[in-house]
Amino acid sequence: GRRAALIPAAGSGERLGLGPKALVEVGGLTLLERAVRALSPHVDEVLVALAPGMERALPPLNARTVLGGSSRQESVLNLLRATEAEVVLVHDAARPFLGAALVEGLLEAVHETGAATAALPCADTLVRAHGGRWAALVDRENTWAVQTPQVFSRELLLAAHERALREGWSATDDAGLIVRAGGEVRLVPGDARLFKVTTPGDLALARAFAGTWDG
Ligand code: CTP
Ligand code: MG
Repeated sequence: GRRAALIPAAGSGERLGLGPKALVEVGGLTLLERAVRALSPHVDEVLVALAPGMERALPPLNARTVLGGSSRQESVLNLLRATEAEVVLVHDAARPFLGAALVEGLLEAVHETGAATAALPCADTLVRAHGGRWAALVDRENTWAVQTPQVFSRELLLAAHERALREGWSATDDAGLIVRAGGEVRLVPGDARLFKVTTPGDLALARAFAGTWDG
């Protein structure tokens, strides 16, 4: 297909503490099913990276599965190598509330530089800490919290990943690898509802919110 959605879902969900996080249910659907459903209408194929044994625990998915790696970065590289799509949209299974308008905005924005990500301007005061104490104020002006989806030209992202592998770089997300490789990433205003389910507090929020979500 011309466009593929790549969903890294192979994490072990250590901070949440309920087993593989993508299998955790929120309002009657797993986090992974919510991500697949949000993306399917926008792409020609959906690929999901899973850890060994996860597939058995899942209801049938409208997606192709590949084996994940030991880091998110490795899982995304496995996904990238499994598709020939021209444009890839990478989205964490751990972000269940993704609206159609944002996906469309990212698919338009990607054409500028070959890389675009959802991100939110930071609203809180930001500080750097040392040993649990406030060490320095970080100037909040022009700071953004980076989310997913992130959309790329597949060739550009694959080149960044392969270089990262050769040179031993790691980044917490794909846009970070693009920047490290000298590329430019367009920031598209995301949405507070796109929060990542990381901790038990996030899960409580997701479960309370799910009933109002019709995306
Ligand atoms: N992920 C992955 N492969 C890994 C690690 C993470 O595909 N080896 C995926 C997760 O499944 C998740 C996304 O990357 O959808 C973001 O990672 P994170 O929120 O850190 O999830 P986990 O790694 O599962 O959680 P934790 O770090 O608490 O163990
Ligand atoms: Mg993790």
